[in-house]
Amino acid sequence: MAKIIDGKLISSQIKDELKKEVSALKADGKNVTLAVIQVGNDPASTVYVGNKKKACAYIGIESQAYELPDTTSEEELLQLINRLNQDPHVNGILVQLPLPGQIHEANVIQAISPDKDVDGFHPVSVGRLCIGEKGFVSCTPAGIIQLLKRSEIEIAGKECVVIGRSNIVGKPMSMLLLRENGTVTITHSKTKDLKAVAKRADILIVAIGKPKMIDHEYVKDGAVVIDVGIHRNDDGKLCGDVDYEDVFPLCSAITPVPGGVGPMTIAMLMNNCVEAVR
Ligand code: GUN
Repeated sequence: MAKIIDGKLISSQIKDELKKEVSALKADGKNVTLAVIQVGNDPASTVYVGNKKKACAYIGIESQAYELPDTTSEEELLQLINRLNQDPHVNGILVQLPLPGQIHEANVIQAISPDKDVDGFHPVSVGRLCIGEKGFVSCTPAGIIQLLKRSEIEIAGKECVVIGRSNIVGKPMSMLLLRENGTVTITHSKTKDLKAVAKRADILIVAIGKPKMIDHEYVKDGAVVIDVGIHRNDDGKLCGDVDYEDVFPLCSAITPVPGGVGPMTIAMLMNNCVEAVR
């Protein structure tokens, strides 16, 4: 019988731990402040930004909201980031993605000080992760490590297969599993015989962006399956990249969608904000 990894529960435990820590920091005269910048009003981004502000309020992190029109120039955005970089009251800076076409994402990510880069997207943060130095780590993969550790799933020595090589999930995920002494294989759309490679995994992390693509043919008996995908079906229901019902009988543990990886991303963002002050 597969263990269902409850991301909602684990994320609330982390948020409660952070709430206590923030309260202790406040008693010590230290405030935690996150600046959240949204350019334009993409509806999905508005929901994400709203959830981030709500989590900040719950934990006791001060959030500063910057809502800029979608006609904002790159220069204007870079000026705001520069001002926030220099503001000693601001500990973390987050620019919600995607950005309007006139703004280059890479320039914006690189403008944020690596010391305030709570998304962990800056090349310096990515480099620190690769060479094992302390630094901010991308929130979704960091959350997956917490899900595994808090579910008492050993990573060291395990065959870990990551499906997907994005900068935000696949690549940092692989580095984190390696840091935990996993034996890591990164796969992608050009991988030959993906089913055979995925079937080697003791721990299978799926971040491919295709609804229900991973069925029982990709999963070894007893594997731990972590599903990063989130999609809305034609009938309006949420599903992941994994065909949950099909692989469930094979797994030793699995994350559901919703309620698995999703809630962990914001919890780890909050953790990064506190880390900026620790
Ligand atoms: N857009 C979708 N996910 C994210 C995220 O994790 N961080 C930022 N900044 N933008 C996003």
